[in-house]
Amino acid sequence: MIFQKSTVTIKTLSLALALVGPAVADDYRPAFHFCPAENWMNEPNGLIKIDSTWHLFYQADPTANVWGNECWGHATSSDLLHWDHLPVAIPVENGIESFTGTSYYDGDNTSGLGTSSNPPYLAFFTGYTSLNETQDQRLAYSTDLGTTWFKFPGNPIISAPQEAPHDTTGGRESRDPKVFFHVSSGKWVMVLAHGGQDKLTFWTSLDAKSWTWVSELLSSQIEGFSNSISGWEVPDIWVVIFTPAQGSPPGGNGVVALTGSFDGETFVADPVDSSTLWLDYGRDFDGALSWENVPASDGRRIIAAVMNSYGSNPPTNIWKGMLSFPRTLTLKRIGSKQYFLQQPVAELSTIDSTLTSIQNQTIAPNQTLLSSIRGTSLDVRIVFRIDSGATLSLAVRKGGSEQTVIRYSQLNSTLSVDRTASGDISYDPAAKGVHSAQLAQENTELVHIWVLVDTCSVEVFGGQGEAVISDLIFPSNSSDGLSLEVFGGTATFQSVTVSSVSL
Ligand code: FRU
Repeated sequence: MIFQKSTVTIKTLSLALALVGPAVADDYRPAFHFCPAENWMNEPNGLIKIDSTWHLFYQADPTANVWGNECWGHATSSDLLHWDHLPVAIPVENGIESFTGTSYYDGDNTSGLGTSSNPPYLAFFTGYTSLNETQDQRLAYSTDLGTTWFKFPGNPIISAPQEAPHDTTGGRESRDPKVFFHVSSGKWVMVLAHGGQDKLTFWTSLDAKSWTWVSELLSSQIEGFSNSISGWEVPDIWVVIFTPAQGSPPGGNGVVALTGSFDGETFVADPVDSSTLWLDYGRDFDGALSWENVPASDGRRIIAAVMNSYGSNPPTNIWKGMLSFPRTLTLKRIGSKQYFLQQPVAELSTIDSTLTSIQNQTIAPNQTLLSSIRGTSLDVRIVFRIDSGATLSLAVRKGGSEQTVIRYSQLNSTLSVDRTASGDISYDPAAKGVHSAQLAQENTELVHIWVLVDTCSVEVFGGQGEAVISDLIFPSNSSDGLSLEVFGGTATFQSVTVSSVSL
């Protein structure tokens, strides 16, 4: 995010919306997505599984529902669905805020911050001192399986002066450490983002406390990467993932993923194809990170991001910012291209209860399905064939003049989310419009669309998960209808399943 402080105008606007805006039930609180009990969150931090517990840390202001006083909020879950809210894990201290970062298990106690019989979990974060705007890198550790965290007394582990030669702002734009242990080189690796400089730097360490700069990755080194994709933040590495603040297909921030090779010091990116670069084509998937320490027996790489690209503007008053539904990330060659595929985690099915299930049905333009189904927290899965030139249209959160419309247009194999009439779109200039993504050609004969609706959000996964669109919506409570229609030809459903989702 851009460090947008609330201004008088924004406050006045929010107050006006609170007074005249549509009626809200519990402040649009989602039913099966994580959001803070109250106040502000931005992106997830330090995602890690410890024993059978999924830990979610996140950038939080526990005192207000605007960005500021940033620290690591904390919640845990046994299933990625039910979250327990815990006390702040890494607080603001001595005027130093705890910005974004990541966690890792130091199984060999190379840091010496635990013991060989009780190795520590490490959390790396950026210390932000608003007084002089420096950003340095810091370490915290836990020896009780991630419940409590202590700041390393030798902080910072990388100071602003140490960053200065590698950061044109002299250490005011070095942040969001992604740290992991690189087994084949026997070293810890840290990846830092340098905001407006559009680069990542790589650092290594033997003990996770003392760090040496080794290389950098600039946009000019990535063949096919547009230099209009700027403001790099929040790196992750499995494949390289980061969030540019500008340049995404719907405008503003978005998340990119790059393949390449990494030898422990230098990442050499494969040439990028702009049609497979972005993980999400909606406006609300920002600052994605993946869970570390997921056992090999599970084997999934699971990512989540914050859904909110409008600072304090969304019309929620009790809380601000929600976590995307956790999704698996895989890489797959389909035809001539390498795709990043994403799907909601399978745990979702355990909280689904089926409202309707349709098999083998064909509809023509004057027929509507699902009009008797109601719900505001839904899992909708559709598998269909469609006539050439026809468009399938699924409206959700429909009522009066409001609806959010998900379309699949056969002509250009395009999936889209239309928020034009979705409800309150006055809170931010970027809150309206249509966002689209293309399915891989190989997935257009029998089309799969998987839609999660949760009160104030839609996340739409097309094909095998190569086309994903995530957007916030703010409809009236009473807009809880659906309709499934086709235009310009017929559609034959192999299956349509609509489930209500609740914890
Ligand atoms: C991304 C970001 C990070 C930073 C954090 C501060 O949204 O700007 O780069 O660490 O937010 O809250």
